[in-house]
Amino acid sequence: MRLFVAIALPETIRWQLRLLCGGLPGARWVPPENFHLTLRFIGEVDGAEFHDIDAALAGIRAPGFTMSFAGVGHFGSGAKLRSIWAGVDKQPALTHLRDKIESAVVRAGAEPNGQKFHPHVTLARSKGELVPKLGDFLVQHSLFRGQPFEVTHFTLFSSFLNHTAAIYTPERSYELSRA
Ligand code: 2AM
Repeated sequence: MRLFVAIALPETIRWQLRLLCGGLPGARWVPPENFHLTLRFIGEVDGAEFHDIDAALAGIRAPGFTMSFAGVGHFGSGAKLRSIWAGVDKQPALTHLRDKIESAVVRAGAEPNGQKFHPHVTLARSKGELVPKLGDFLVQHSLFRGQPFEVTHFTLFSSFLNHTAAIYTPERSYELSRA
């Protein structure tokens, strides 16, 4: 089973993000039901590892917070474009939660993740296809803010990749305390 930890987005927020997804020939948009903010990609685990990770995540005590969006951006560029995303405000409560999740999953046996945290919601993916109007898209949506929303829990998802799309299933949800 392939796992990741993320913040699931309410439907109203997914609809706001969906409105960004157009006017970009060549982009392969993520279906709105798959929008999420990844806090930790874990990868393939067996049943015992799932149990240990679930127990470690259930032990996290962290406050809820208000999540806000901040413009749009991309990873990779030109023929090496990997994704286009909506940026998320990197506020202390979000970073705190991400750090706690990192320690918990490492304690449960996952390899440490040395990557810098760059909070985002992926809107489109690319395997190096050129997206000619990307510059216009970035300018047009540079001030995107979306509606802030209260993050009250985080979720352990499993991911099943078939030929056409990823299917994400919430396996466990963990409450945050009231701020
Ligand atoms: P991203 O889209 O937010 O960048 C579920 O597969 C999520 O985990 C993806 O949405 C992706 O996050 C992240 N992910 C997938 N494969 C990954 C990998 N090999 N390394 C790091 N993160 C990955």
